[in-house]
Amino acid sequence: MSDVHASLPARPVDPAAFTDESLYAATRLPVELASTLLPDAYTTPEFFALEREKVFATGWVAVGCTADVARPGDCVVVEVAGRSVIVTRDREGALRAFHNVCRHRATTLLTADARHVGRGGRIRCPYHAWAYDLDGACLGTPLFEGSDVPAGQEPVFDTAPARAFDRADHGLLPVAVESWGFLVFVSLEPEPGPLSAQLGDLPRRLAGYRLEGWLPQRRGRYDVAANHKLVGENFMEYYHLPWVHPELSQVSRFSDHYRWQGSGMYTGMCTTPVSRNSDAGGWDGLNPVHGLAGRDADSGRFVWLFPSTALVVLPNHAFVLFAQPVAPNRTVETTVLLAHPDSLDHPDREAGLDRLEKFWDLVNRQDVEIVERVQQGLANPAYRGGRMCFRFEEPLHRFQNMVVDRMVGLRRVPAGDPAAMARMFPDP
Ligand code: FES
Ligand SMILES: [Fe+2]
Repeated sequence: MSDVHASLPARPVDPAAFTDESLYAATRLPVELASTLLPDAYTTPEFFALEREKVFATGWVAVGCTADVARPGDCVVVEVAGRSVIVTRDREGALRAFHNVCRHRATTLLTADARHVGRGGRIRCPYHAWAYDLDGACLGTPLFEGSDVPAGQEPVFDTAPARAFDRADHGLLPVAVESWGFLVFVSLEPEPGPLSAQLGDLPRRLAGYRLEGWLPQRRGRYDVAANHKLVGENFMEYYHLPWVHPELSQVSRFSDHYRWQGSGMYTGMCTTPVSRNSDAGGWDGLNPVHGLAGRDADSGRFVWLFPSTALVVLPNHAFVLFAQPVAPNRTVETTVLLAHPDSLDHPDREAGLDRLEKFWDLVNRQDVEIVERVQQGLANPAYRGGRMCFRFEEPLHRFQNMVVDRMVGLRRVPAGDPAAMARMFPDP
């Protein structure tokens, strides 16, 4: 019998090979035969740096919620591929995003906690007070080319030497921004394809929930001592449910899970029916969104948006987790619990939200603990990769192959599941 483990690349892998297709041969096999992605992809600074450019700086990344930039001048400061980005809304109501960098000498314009740009709807640099409009236009460069010169001092601040300077050339550096449902996405590519091409059939699958109207209700933050891909891979399989989540397993039964993936840069699974309350908690306490039809009315949708966002949609609430890579072995998770106004029109809404928040916090802490243990194991160079359990881990295979595609410079969107693959257990 051949030793499959011995045939996997020995560690450490030469980082120069991280962009070679041949390095990933075991992950490229059909899922029934495949091994997991190279462990060095989770542990080395070289892979992390390459992945930042080839995955996170290439394509759309979900960064926040539309409700946080609902009005002109609202803003959030987010990080994508290590770059700080301002997302705001201009006076015409259009979403805008810019690199958070002053065009003068590069000062960071807004701090991470900024929620609204400065007075008068201007983004003003704290260093020499260059000011920018919500559409990015440079509005003023004090004492440089004529603006803000005190009356009577014009001769002192003669602008003649400011030759060949045109404010119009010094607007903020733009970043592509789009939204879908309640999520805002940015792309660092200069000319990205439309977000819809990345999302594939997902907007159609989730259309019944009218996600564009959902509002953030509770937020959390978790510092995780694990690579961001482990957070995603853990989210996209239900294989671990009985052992890691005894409580969730009561609410959302193992055998009620099935795959739910069309063409698009995402992985998906569902539970139908998503059970209601049990001793361990449950989903009651908020109304379902009005007008949900068919399976939308009694399912939980669990979608991982490539590259780094978990989206859970139930009939009466949603849970989102943004996984921000910080280091090969460190990820910051920002979580948001959202609900539609239909769901919030309930006398016990606060108690219902409290219960949901507590429940998701419990589930997430269980997940964090287990992925940190995976990270610890991956650091051991004796381990070269493991066999995927094809029954349950096809979404990981799909995801890891999306990562490999980007690392080797391939741009393509995975096809959907054949219908016959979707359901493991008999259809309810
Ligand atoms: S660096 Fe921003 S105004 Fe000088
Ligand atoms: Fe889990």
